[in-house]
Amino acid sequence: MRIFWQDNMSLGLAQVDDEHKHMVALLDSVCLALQYRNLPAAALALDEFSGVLTRHFASEEGFLAQIFAINADQHRQSHRDTADLVGRLRVAIGGAGDLPLAERLVAELVTEWIRRLFREDNDLVAQLKGTGGPGLGPTE
Ligand SMILES: [Fe+2]
Ligand SMILES: [Fe+2]
Repeated sequence: MRIFWQDNMSLGLAQVDDEHKHMVALLDSVCLALQYRNLPAAALALDEFSGVLTRHFASEEGFLAQIFAINADQHRQSHRDTADLVGRLRVAIGGAGDLPLAERLVAELVTEWIRRLFREDNDLVAQLKGTGGPGLGPTE
């Protein structure tokens, strides 16, 4: 399983798109390290991904609160579910050193992450645009 940035993943809000692009690159580093069965490299890449993910969730949740977004609770729950999946992947890679499990979990993470980008994140950006909310540049 690999993940590459596609233009159709752009939601139209530069800060969110830039953070998503960064996360795609880091998540793909985890995938690549697992493909080469290099668990230490996968653990390092996952730590970096996880740090960026935490900051990204905080910034999205800041937007959710500022515009009192609809489905905000569902979006926050999706962030918690993703963080939980990352935690299980960390255990599979670092603690247990279980490569087959790590490969299954990273495939689930990639699939779920993309699905959530097109669902909750897309809804959030649409609402931000609709309200002229925070993070929108003067040209939008
Ligand atoms: Fe999100
Ligand atoms: Fe996001």
